[in-house]
Amino acid sequence: MAGRLKDKVAIVAGAGSRGPGLGNGKATAILFAREGARVLCVDAELARAEETANLIHAEGNTALAFAADVARAVDCRAMVGEALARLGGLDILHNNVGVESRLDLMETTEEEWDRVMAIDLKTMLLTTQAAVPAMEQRGGGAITCISSIAGMVGHGRTAYAAAKAGVIGFVTSVAVQLGPKRIRVNAIAPGQVWTPMVERLGAEARERRRRASPLGVEGTGWDVGWGAVYLASDEARWVTGHVLVIDAGLTRTTR
Ligand SMILES: NC(=O)c1ccc[n+]([C@@H]2O[C@H](COP(=O)([O-])OP(=O)(O)OC[C@H]3O[C@@H](n4cnc5c(N)ncnc54)[C@H](O)[C@@H]3O)[C@@H](O)[C@H]2O)c1
Repeated sequence: MAGRLKDKVAIVAGAGSRGPGLGNGKATAILFAREGARVLCVDAELARAEETANLIHAEGNTALAFAADVARAVDCRAMVGEALARLGGLDILHNNVGVESRLDLMETTEEEWDRVMAIDLKTMLLTTQAAVPAMEQRGGGAITCISSIAGMVGHGRTAYAAAKAGVIGFVTSVAVQLGPKRIRVNAIAPGQVWTPMVERLGAEARERRRRASPLGVEGTGWDVGWGAVYLASDEARWVTGHVLVIDAGLTRTTR
């Protein structure tokens, strides 16, 4: 089915992929465009944003690439300004930016904690603050923030788990505040998806991750992207403050 996001303008923050292949942000941007949205592909590294925009163009759909570090308020305002000036408005903000930290409690330095909080959590605040006035002009909008099941279940990676749990708290708070403005705010909590972000873990880890869930099927960026399409679309018009877990059932197991 196509056209679920027809006439919408979307920003995907973190629309590139850190390596060859398909990350969550890249897949989401491609699916948004296939569903009819005009997409501003935003990444701290312009070449990564351009790669995604080019894939979208190759399918005959509409996208622009834009360089912004969304851990900086000034860049977030510029990003929204670009969407307004060149794509004519803003209806959808998809916050995919995030970095992993594999350090446990005692290994986590103050610098590591601050780095992860800035990229995984502060970006949610700054992009949302920049987007709200533009969405108000449209009479509403949809914001989706990428969390992780690491923020919901026992997890050894302290700063990452804390930041991703923080994303859920952020979404819960902001959904209530923005409801009267008809701006919906939701989170997606992906499970052990196989993307360039985790590729360095190697083949053995890949197989272990695949087998871990009840479905026993490997997850990809497309699985996360389809959830993002739903939450961004009018089909989810009555859905806000929700955490959509996309994990092949992993968090339902006792293993
Ligand atoms: N792969 C998994 O198993 C998994 C599981 C749960 C959650 N996630 C989440 O998915 C998201 C990452 O997905 P991906 O596959 O697209 O990752 P990715 O690392 O391939 O892509 C993220 C992009 O964000 C960009 N970026 C990083 N910091 C930025 C900043 N400050 N401003 C602008 N752009 C910035 C990077 O340059 C990169 O291109 C993260 O939030 C991650 O925590 C992944």
